[in-house]
Amino acid sequence: MIRNRLLLTGLILLVFTSLFAKEGMWIPTLLNKYNIEEMKQMGFKLTAEDIYSVNQVSMKDAVVIFGGGCTGELISDQGLLITNHHCGFDAIQNHSTVEHDYLTNGFWAKNHQEELPNPQLSVRFLDRMDDVSEKVLAGSEGKPQDSIPAIILRNSKRITTEASQKGRFEAVVQPLFYGNQYFLYVYQVFEDVRLVGAPPTSIGKFGGDTDNWMWPRHTGDFSLFRIYANKDNQPAKYSAGNVPYKPKKFFKISLKGVHPEDFTMVYGYPGRTQEFLPSQAISQIMEQGDPDKIKIRDMKLSLLAADMDKDPKVRIQYASKYATTSNAWKKWQGEVKGLKRLNAVNTKQNFENEFKAWVAAERDRKNRYSEVLPNFDKLYAQLAPYAKAYDYYGEIVQRGTDLFTAVAILESLESRWAKLKPEDQALALKSVQQRLADHFKEYNRATDEKVFAALIPMYYNDLDPRFLPEDFKALMSKTSTEKLINTLYRKSIFSDSIKLTALMTDLDLKKLKTISEDPAFILFRSLKNFYEKNVESNYTSIQKQIDGNLKTYVAGIMKMHEGRPLWADANKSLRVAYGKVEGFEPMDGVIYDYYTTVDGIMQKDNPAIYDYNVPQALRDLYHKKDYGRYGENGKMNVCFTASNHTTGGNSGSPVIDANGNLIGVNFDRSWEGTMSDLMFDPDRCRNISLDIRYALFIIDKLAGAKDLIDEMVVVN
Ligand code: ARG
Ligand code: GLU
Repeated sequence: MIRNRLLLTGLILLVFTSLFAKEGMWIPTLLNKYNIEEMKQMGFKLTAEDIYSVNQVSMKDAVVIFGGGCTGELISDQGLLITNHHCGFDAIQNHSTVEHDYLTNGFWAKNHQEELPNPQLSVRFLDRMDDVSEKVLAGSEGKPQDSIPAIILRNSKRITTEASQKGRFEAVVQPLFYGNQYFLYVYQVFEDVRLVGAPPTSIGKFGGDTDNWMWPRHTGDFSLFRIYANKDNQPAKYSAGNVPYKPKKFFKISLKGVHPEDFTMVYGYPGRTQEFLPSQAISQIMEQGDPDKIKIRDMKLSLLAADMDKDPKVRIQYASKYATTSNAWKKWQGEVKGLKRLNAVNTKQNFENEFKAWVAAERDRKNRYSEVLPNFDKLYAQLAPYAKAYDYYGEIVQRGTDLFTAVAILESLESRWAKLKPEDQALALKSVQQRLADHFKEYNRATDEKVFAALIPMYYNDLDPRFLPEDFKALMSKTSTEKLINTLYRKSIFSDSIKLTALMTDLDLKKLKTISEDPAFILFRSLKNFYEKNVESNYTSIQKQIDGNLKTYVAGIMKMHEGRPLWADANKSLRVAYGKVEGFEPMDGVIYDYYTTVDGIMQKDNPAIYDYNVPQALRDLYHKKDYGRYGENGKMNVCFTASNHTTGGNSGSPVIDANGNLIGVNFDRSWEGTMSDLMFDPDRCRNISLDIRYALFIIDKLAGAKDLIDEMVVVN
């Protein structure tokens, strides 16, 4: 029913929520009457003030940005926090060695002393957010187009400087609707965050990259951390004397379980969506961008997998890289399929026709908006060749090989070094040493050689020669790949951790000269310089024009639908997505139920397959049906699906019930719905969450960490 209507009226219903739609990631301070009404109709029992309040404690005080790109939530009055296993993965991996393999065996601190510090990890609490559009745009009216960014920057700077209160807070101003609105976000940053517990990977990442993005799903994707503060409960750098943070608010945990049609709300930090992109952009993503990146990663992943399968050391070293590379790779495949299935280009074109008609109806509009759509035609045609080169550079030169990653760490330093003051040189050197140490911990030369040998020729063969520097072309046309690898890896210091580390004990101009004469360094710098000059500059300048045009276009759309709620694309700021527990029909003849149980884990159990090797302790609990108060009708639920509109960054977000209690932890979306970053389909877009009861069951029964359970407030 809903779907037919959607196809008829096109994008309007995709952008604006209909009575039944679950689309949208709403700004909590702007949850208007319309949203709250709808949420109440869907079963929500609380108020907008309970979600976000300026004056009193609210749910927002229990939700944090976890690390760089995840969400986490407080679940005890002693700073205990839950997020996903894949969000804590780096921390868990960093503490793991072949001897203490926490990835394989899990980790559970028996007391506060055993909780493990993570120097690179921090969490951010949102203190407040404000609409600062007027202040940011002040003085820009009537000014020439190209002087406006500087005005915006200056105004924003003033706002954030003031809001940061001399460094007490971290303040950022972020655009919404492509700069038609601006919001200020003020955060309190906690830097002492310790690892408390993580299940073994065979639970926390059960199904691995095979099941990733898929339903039915059985991943126990959670890990526990604790936020520490100084004696005054304020943020402080790590110190043994710090104490568990006392949060303003934490979530109570509900053991009631999830049932079809139950109201659900996901409260977190979604990273990026692009719902307003025009048809030309969608077509470029579907026809060129996604397929190119998928192809390059196909190659890289198959090479990594082969080596990881052969050697447990390589498996640990490359686990994180593999997961990151494969994650987007798989998502893009679902995205292309989903967009095709939604007939996305057509749907967008239909909407563009409506927009055209709206523009044509009034003289003022004609003056302001009539060039917008033709501009997109021109601009995206100009962008296409650069976009391809941009993707290839990113996938191959920038992120493709370990060799170039190591070079990149030193390349920027080499060009700055002479200009730095001695004390800054020392600081820079220290940071480089640390980054190289981290880099080589996750490096296996033989594996990287294979990746290099496969990816670099792709760069040479697939790209228009005008995007490649002459010396690279000459090298590739006269040297075999094998020879190239041989010379590069044998001669380059960047493939040799011992030599490079030794060289880096100190640094001077003479050493830098040696480094700059290294064959890998020379090749990388040539590719980089050529790219920056001939690709990046053009790409960025066209993209800027596109963004400017999008600003006008979206301003038009906002006018066109005045009075109706419109949500702004995700931008790593706090959002609310509401929906309900429900399964879906991924394809003709298949119906997906809304939940999974441990029975399904046992059906997948296969010791011969790394991703499906169930730990014996879980098998035992299953055979005894020892689920305690966490089970339901003799079964132990594991995951569930709901119709909350989420995206990357929502990992670890609390899934909250009608009463504001925690019922799950969001960690994924269904593959058939991954196009929701560009176009939402209420029939097929589902978020996947861990049932909180499964997390508690693992903590209690498998890990025996009763203290942690006692710390939480569990309600029935
Ligand atoms: N797809 C989820 C997300 O986008 C989970 C990724 C981590 N898991 C994995 N198997 N790679 O982040
Ligand atoms: N796994 C994603 C994350 O890390 C969430 C899944 C999604 O993209 O919706 O944020």
